[in-house]
Amino acid sequence: MSGTGRLPDSQGRDSSPLLEVRDLHTRFRVRDTTVYAVEGASMTVRAGETLGIVGESGSGKSVTALSIMGMIRWPGQIAGGQVLFHGEDLLKKPESQMRKLRGRTIAMVPQNPLTSLNPVLTVGEHLRELLWVHLKTSSGEAKARSIDLLSRVGLPDPEQRLREYPHRMSGGQRQRVMIALAMACGPELLIADEPTTALDVTIQAQILELMDELSRESNLASVLITHNLGIVAGHCDQVVVMYAGRVVESAPVGEIFAHPRHPYTVGLLQCVPRLTRHREREFHTIPGSPPVVTELADGCPFAPRCAYATERCWSHRPPLDDVGPAHAAACWNPVDLPRTAEVTG
Ligand SMILES: Nc1ncnc2c1ncn2[C@@H]1O[C@H](COP(=O)(O)OP(=O)(O)O)[C@@H](O)[C@H]1O
Ligand SMILES: [Mg+2]
Repeated sequence: MSGTGRLPDSQGRDSSPLLEVRDLHTRFRVRDTTVYAVEGASMTVRAGETLGIVGESGSGKSVTALSIMGMIRWPGQIAGGQVLFHGEDLLKKPESQMRKLRGRTIAMVPQNPLTSLNPVLTVGEHLRELLWVHLKTSSGEAKARSIDLLSRVGLPDPEQRLREYPHRMSGGQRQRVMIALAMACGPELLIADEPTTALDVTIQAQILELMDELSRESNLASVLITHNLGIVAGHCDQVVVMYAGRVVESAPVGEIFAHPRHPYTVGLLQCVPRLTRHREREFHTIPGSPPVVTELADGCPFAPRCAYATERCWSHRPPLDDVGPAHAAACWNPVDLPRTAEVTG
């Protein structure tokens, strides 16, 4: 898609994709082995929309996020594909240009916030530096904005927090600082990698509500990586299900819950705990575990765990094909359970 010729929707807003990942391949060279972390993933995010990425640990969610951000480092390598942002391929941009975009136009809340904060800078210094580098915000304005940001992410006594060092804060507080940093420069795209895992449910709800508010008010596009299908149901518009580095299903959120077609998605939905839990959990009840992909086999990577696998699934890899309007699944034998009532986000 080119940067011009944007498509207005019925309300006159731009409905062309803000981010389009096409056929992304990211690999890691580990001694004599290649880990095929992401193999041919594609996904689209529009302004004002939230895309959820779900899948078990090791399925390639974080590597997809880091690839979009241009943050894959040796021994990792992007072996192919495009990451189109406003129609321009970020993979072709020099690091100097990516540095200007990162943190300002495209921001990320990383999965592990501990390593991303500098222990010798206070929270206020982190925010001030970021606002100065990207927006040339004066120190007085930066302070006011920082206090506002910290209170919006639910940190009590924000003025006091500005003087604190991240290592003196709890995991949940640091996570909220990371979210404030990600939102500081008013990004167009926010990638949040399991942003609420360390937070209790009240703060989690507050952060997700803030992200929803920004989507509505500022047309923020977000990618929300989560293990929690309840969060997906409540906060995402589109969903991508990843398995072994591949997108195995993608659909609007209501459709994925009402009529999942890939047996893996069906398995994930069956793992949703019946009782409300205070912590997000890994999915555990699909028998077997996901593979670390070190060779590209011909068949479907889910075949060893699939109750529906046939001869063809072992010998031929299913492409991601349309199974309905805006709904695609990579499966030779898509499940066709009776539709359940639609879950609305
Ligand atoms: N720095 C790295 N070196 C080697 N392998 C990696 C590295 N980062 C990720 N991987 C591998 O890539 C695959 C996908 O990882 P990741 O994207 O972190 O999974 P997820 O976020 O879905 O849990 C895994 O098999 C993981 O072991
Ligand atoms: Mg991850």
